Amino acid sequence: MRALSPNQGSTCQEPKKSYEQQSLEFLKVTDLSSKYRHLFPVLEKVTYLNSCSQGALAIPVREALDLYLDGMYEKGSLWNEWVMKQEELRGLVAKAFSTASTNVAITSTASAGINSVLSSFDFSGGRNRIVTTDLEFPTMGQILHAQERRGAVVTHVASEPDGLLDLNKLESSLDERVALIAVTHVCYRHGAMTDLKAVATVAHKHGIPVLVDAYQSVGSMPINFDEIGADFLVGGFLKYMLGIPGIGFLLAKENSPLIPTKTGWFAARDVFAMEISSYDPAPDARRFEEGTPPIPSVYAAVAGLRLLLDVGLENVWKQNQSLHSMIRRGFEHLNLEIRTPELAGSHGVMIAISSLNEGEAVSSLESAGIVTSSRAGNVRVSPHFYNNEEDVEQLISAVTESRHLFV
Ligand SMILES: Cc1ncc(COP(=O)(O)O)c(C=O)c1O
Repeated sequence: MRALSPNQGSTCQEPKKSYEQQSLEFLKVTDLSSKYRHLFPVLEKVTYLNSCSQGALAIPVREALDLYLDGMYEKGSLWNEWVMKQEELRGLVAKAFSTASTNVAITSTASAGINSVLSSFDFSGGRNRIVTTDLEFPTMGQILHAQERRGAVVTHVASEPDGLLDLNKLESSLDERVALIAVTHVCYRHGAMTDLKAVATVAHKHGIPVLVDAYQSVGSMPINFDEIGADFLVGGFLKYMLGIPGIGFLLAKENSPLIPTKTGWFAARDVFAMEISSYDPAPDARRFEEGTPPIPSVYAAVAGLRLLLDVGLENVWKQNQSLHSMIRRGFEHLNLEIRTPELAGSHGVMIAISSLNEGEAVSSLESAGIVTSSRAGNVRVSPHFYNNEEDVEQLISAVTESRHLFV
């Protein structure tokens, strides 16, 4: 094995077992996937291991879109149903993240949520610094740097060679001018995971709010928003939350004093007051919403999240960890350069390996019927609870065939 993490191999010193032996231990992963696999038609066509980009489309999600369209054919205008769907989604998101539904804003994208939070700050005074990391997805980096036009100064804390964030380094970059810390939970490039509770503790010690981009973890593992203590968390439904494009969410801590200036009528205290002479935002997290909700995507997100909650996020994470470990053992067996830290708590479900030519590597796997994706030279393999041991075996055999394309 040639993994990059210095943490790797420092613990978990169990005797080495063959890949075949280890595969047998993970047979239990098929139990959960066999119950739900039939709901995802794409799994009959390809070995789908690209949930970090887009989750597999479930039959109930497609049916929900049909329901939306059927309603439009039958009744024409459906404001009441739409509002009820939106509120149903708010309740489901609250349940998924163990928080109150008053802490949930439904947005069109994760970017919209980040923009709303940033619009709440006044960077023209002394408190104008934003501290972030080099692990962020471009949308976070770009939105933060856009605030430079409003007086903000952005500092990126560099991650360590193993991809993890050193919290001492983060803390030493703080001073009384820092207005916000913005961090990603699981890095989209290699899957390294940051301890959010630890970040929130450091930030709050200095009186600084924390904004989290959790798009690469939401739906793949249980996340308790209240327990983490972050002030804001954004995510979306397209990946592990089984939805479609056009919908995201923002969680906002109950007592946050921040009021966005990026707004719209659906953020108003009384949406149908039709007020044009004042700004009276909702007192709860709904103040971070904007205009007419992305209703077709709301229907899809409700169906996807219902399904996910039926599986249970604890079960999903258990299965995802098993799949991650199985894939890791297979990659180790092939002596690949694994870019994802290994220790429990230091990675999400995705596992990334260094490639010599990422485009060619992804295409080569695709021609063997394996769907993956790449970023920053890494091929990213991202299973979800609907994957099974057979999928992993197919992946490992295809990577073996394309071994010359990987480091
Ligand atoms: C970590 C992360 N944040 C944000 C985004 C983009 O979110 P959106 O397009 O909903 O703004 C992605 C999409 O891949 C992502 O992986």
